[in-house]
Amino acid sequence: MEEAVFIDGVRTPNGRAHREKGWFRKLRPDELLTVVYQAIFDRNKKVKPGDIDAVLVGCANISGMQNDIGRLAWLASGLPDSVPSNTMTNQCPSGMSATMHAARAIMTGQADIMLAAGVEDMEKVPMAANMDFPPRLLKYYNGADLPMGPTAEKVAEMSNISREDMDNFAVWSNKKAAEARNAGKFKNEIIPVLGVNDNGEEYLVEHDQWIRDKIDIDKMKTMTSPYKPNGRVTAATSSPLTQGAACLLLMSRGKADELGLEYHYKFNYGVLAGCDPTVMGIGPIPAVRKLFEKTGLTKDDIGPVELNEAFASQALACIRDLRLDNDNAPFKRVNVWGGAIALGHPLGQSGARLIVTLLNIMKADFPNEKYGLASLCGAFGNAAACLIEKAK
Ligand SMILES: CC(C)(COP(=O)(O)OP(=O)(O)OC[C@H]1O[C@@H](n2cnc3c(N)ncnc32)[C@H](O)[C@@H]1OP(=O)(O)O)[C@@H](O)C(=O)NCCC(=O)NCCS
Repeated sequence: MEEAVFIDGVRTPNGRAHREKGWFRKLRPDELLTVVYQAIFDRNKKVKPGDIDAVLVGCANISGMQNDIGRLAWLASGLPDSVPSNTMTNQCPSGMSATMHAARAIMTGQADIMLAAGVEDMEKVPMAANMDFPPRLLKYYNGADLPMGPTAEKVAEMSNISREDMDNFAVWSNKKAAEARNAGKFKNEIIPVLGVNDNGEEYLVEHDQWIRDKIDIDKMKTMTSPYKPNGRVTAATSSPLTQGAACLLLMSRGKADELGLEYHYKFNYGVLAGCDPTVMGIGPIPAVRKLFEKTGLTKDDIGPVELNEAFASQALACIRDLRLDNDNAPFKRVNVWGGAIALGHPLGQSGARLIVTLLNIMKADFPNEKYGLASLCGAFGNAAACLIEKAK
């Protein structure tokens, strides 16, 4: 088996998906993908675009501006048409699936150099855009239980996650994200993008738009659930609507050595798992359990963990069930640079973004750890988990 090493990983800042307030409101999602494609080649001059075996791109809602976005953004960037692309979806884990498929192509000797990316613009292509559920699905599930918000409420009830713990979690996520940003921790992964500020003037966006520097805890406590009368989940404890792209460059170790490229981490293992779609947020539980069973590792072998925060309820339920960290924030190794509640969650982008950030966290803050873990849930009970290992 070949080894698939990570040569580089980049992302755009995450912008607010809002027609009047989003810093990237004038950009299309394919333009954000161009930024990350281009950044990979600008930062890695020894890699020529025409040498890429394939470009795999995760995107949750492949319709409208996001239809075959991996390929069309590549061509619209003036990159060689000889390089094939596959835009893929399994909802939020799409960018992680793209990374797993890219790594496996290398590990099985079918490719030498792969790009894996993720992209989503939740304003231009809203969640569930053009969704047309199979009527037969309703024999098995109540349609009202399938949207994301109600699943988060159900997980909160089922796993006994209190409103107070969720609020505390959201405060912590924003605090860690702001600290990481202020310490320049995202500098290696974020590619500045020319957007517009609130007044519509050109503005070079260098950091994520959603991070809340000052949280009004009193206001937060008064917020009500947009999903359910007397529910526990609020906008503050949900990941916000976001725009962003991320991209990873993977290579066989042999090719990387031949080109004289530096690398620190490799892909070790990846799994997909399924769960009841009405509690989709607990998906990381079967995914991480499956990954541990297959690799023979336990939570004690793992250093940092990047666990997507679709909602505080589901993130807490997963952390507690898998015993990944303390039962409540503050955490020692989970989302130590903040999570999606603060950084944003552009659906199909997040799986790739978690791996980009995990690689940086491992190098900067956990240099002695051999393994890092990334996992996320997704609509309709799709989930994924990936194990990253030190390459040397
Ligand atoms: C929750 C959701 C419906 C809220 O959307 P929205 O109403 O457009 O909300 P906003 O993010 O603008 O926030 C609403 C209000 O809450 C406030 N708020 C949000 N977080 C806050 C916090 N931490 N503290 C204080 N106020 C907060 C906002 O400031 C805003 O108040 P304002 O209008 O007075 O400024 C939307 O973000 C959503 O759907 N999130 C989930 C996305 C999802 O399902 N992703 C997939 C997961 S698998």
